[in-house]
This record gives sequence, C-alpha cells and structure tokens, in this order.
Amino acid sequence: MEVDLFGNEIVKDVLLRDKFMEPPFSVLDTKGGGWQTRKRQWKKLGIESHLGREGVVVINNSFDGDKYGRKSMPEVSIFDPALCELIYNWYCPDGGTILDPFAGGSVRGIVANYLGYKYTGIDIRQEQIDSNREQSLKLLPVDKQPQYYVGDSNVVLTELIPMYDLVFSCPPYADLEVYSEMKEDLSTMEYNEFIKVYAEIIKKAVTKLKSGGYACFVVGDIRDKKGFYRDFISHTKQAFINAGAGLYNEAILLQPLGTAMLRAGKIFESGRKLTKVHENVLIFKKHEKDGFTVLHRGTDCNEMTAKWEDYYRGRL
Ligand SMILES: C[S@@+](CC[C@H](N)C(=O)[O-])C[C@H]1O[C@@H](n2cnc3c(N)ncnc32)[C@H](O)[C@@H]1O
Repeated sequence: MEVDLFGNEIVKDVLLRDKFMEPPFSVLDTKGGGWQTRKRQWKKLGIESHLGREGVVVINNSFDGDKYGRKSMPEVSIFDPALCELIYNWYCPDGGTILDPFAGGSVRGIVANYLGYKYTGIDIRQEQIDSNREQSLKLLPVDKQPQYYVGDSNVVLTELIPMYDLVFSCPPYADLEVYSEMKEDLSTMEYNEFIKVYAEIIKKAVTKLKSGGYACFVVGDIRDKKGFYRDFISHTKQAFINAGAGLYNEAILLQPLGTAMLRAGKIFESGRKLTKVHENVLIFKKHEKDGFTVLHRGTDCNEMTAKWEDYYRGRL
C-alpha cells in the first residue's frame, strides 16, 4: 500500500477505461481514441473480414434512404474486432466457449481464439466458411483454430451436443444484405417469415447456452418499403425473452460518422428521417437452472486490469 507523508493511503484515480477496457456505460463510443487504437491493433494482425462476402447484395437503403429499391453499394458490413474483444472480456469466462449462429466474416472467430476462447460459428454459405478457415489458418496456430459448421442454423443447432458459455452474433438484418439465393437463408425471406425462423434459431441457440450464461446480439433496425421502422430490435428482444433469456443490458454502439455527414442533410430534407449512426448491442442472460452453469470470473478490477495489461504487452 502506498502512503502519503502523513501515512494516509494514496488512492489512485484509475480511469474506468483502464479498469474495464472501455467505460461500462450504456453508450459504447467507437469514435473514441481508445477504441480506435484497439481496432487498429487488431487490424494489424491482418484480419480481412470482408472476404467470403463478394456475392452479397446490399439493399439501398432501408436504414435511412429516400429510395427503397435494390442498388449495389460498395461495402458490405464488417464486424468490429474491438467490439468482439470487449464482449468476450466482459461476458465470457476465461478460455470459455462461444457459439455464433450467424458467423458471417472471420473476425469473431479469429479474435476469440486469438484470446484463448473457443469459438464455434455456423453459416449457411460454404464460400464464407471456406474463406474464414483459410484466413484463420494464416493467423492462428493449427491447434487454435475456430470451429465452423456449414449449414442452416435451424438444423445444425438441433444436432450440436456441447453447451456454450456465451452466444455472440450479428444476424442478418432482414434483407438489408442478401447473402445467397438459398431459401433457408434468412436474408431471402419476407419479414414475417424471417422473424418466425429467426426466433426459432434464437430459441435453439439459447438451449445450447449454459445456465446463467450471456447472449449478445448486435442488431440495427431496418425500414419497410414505406419507410417505417420494422422494430427489429424489439423482435430480437422478444425472441430471446420467449427462449428463456432475460434482457440484461442494452448499449448503443456509436459508429464513426463517415459518410453520414454527407448524406444526412438530403435524407432529412426529403423525408424527415434521421440518419442512423448507431447499432444496438443487446445482452441477454439465461435464467439460472440446475445443470451446466457458466462460471463467470470475478469482477475484481485489479485482476481484470492485470490480465488486459498482460495481453496488450505480450500478445497484440
Ligand atoms: C449479418 S451476416 C453477418 C454480418 C456481420 N456484420 C459480419 O460480418 O460478421 C449474417 C450471416 O448469416 C448467414 N445466414 C443467413 N441465414 C442463415 C441460416 N439460416 N443459418 C446460418 N447462417 C445463416 C449469412 O450467410 C451471413 O453470412
């Protein structure tokens, strides 16, 4: 214990960011310097999460546009590695297992296994999984590879045997991006059918979650053809609640403004719509029952700080 001249303990003013990686507030600001530094460190590893998504059609622009037709856009959505790192650290026990029913790009798997967790991802597209496996082999030792299944999660999840410590995913936002022409691909379905099958998959994923375990879905709302929000966020919440996992936290993920600055004026003037610059990070907790229970590590701040300092010094 450090003391001052008078023998009183010196209490150090440790920043929340130093203790918890990011301040544990209900707004996660990805524009901040700390977040951007972590993101850059991950990118230096060489993760290319856009690979395997070359054929994806992006719909313009049910988020906030003033036209609703299909139009190809230059970029597909790429998941943020700094968000993966944060969620794994906050909600998965050390070395724990992670289940992702809509794997998409390679980033969630690579970040997980790089940090010593064990990731299992399911995706309906063979080319996506082939690309993810190829990238993981470049960046991780052979005995630390994420596990992938190709198939419809509605089927694969019923056949999976293990129980998992964390469910973590970024599902299709209805038909905002259309991934394939397969009828089981959620992004090809009409919204009502989409929500029905989506809820079935969530139910099966929650069945594979250990008692007391967390599930995190990163979602963004989408608009219908008349421009009204579908309230996809509420539909996601209801699906988890019906599956036996309560809504535990909701954070707004503030995105860098990027081209929103250029688009916002026109979008607002033409239809009074606000340009969306956030996504919703929904955290659910499975109600505790007997059986497999997640052993969460303590939330002792010093212990967590020491762990993070260690891997920043030694691993990234
Ligand atoms: C939103 S994407 C993931 C995008 C995310 N931003 C990323 O890169 O990680 C969702 C994924 O779900 C997959 N998908 C759609 N329907 C599925 C189903 N029934 N079973 C498994 N995967 C499915 C798509 O192929 C797509 O790769």
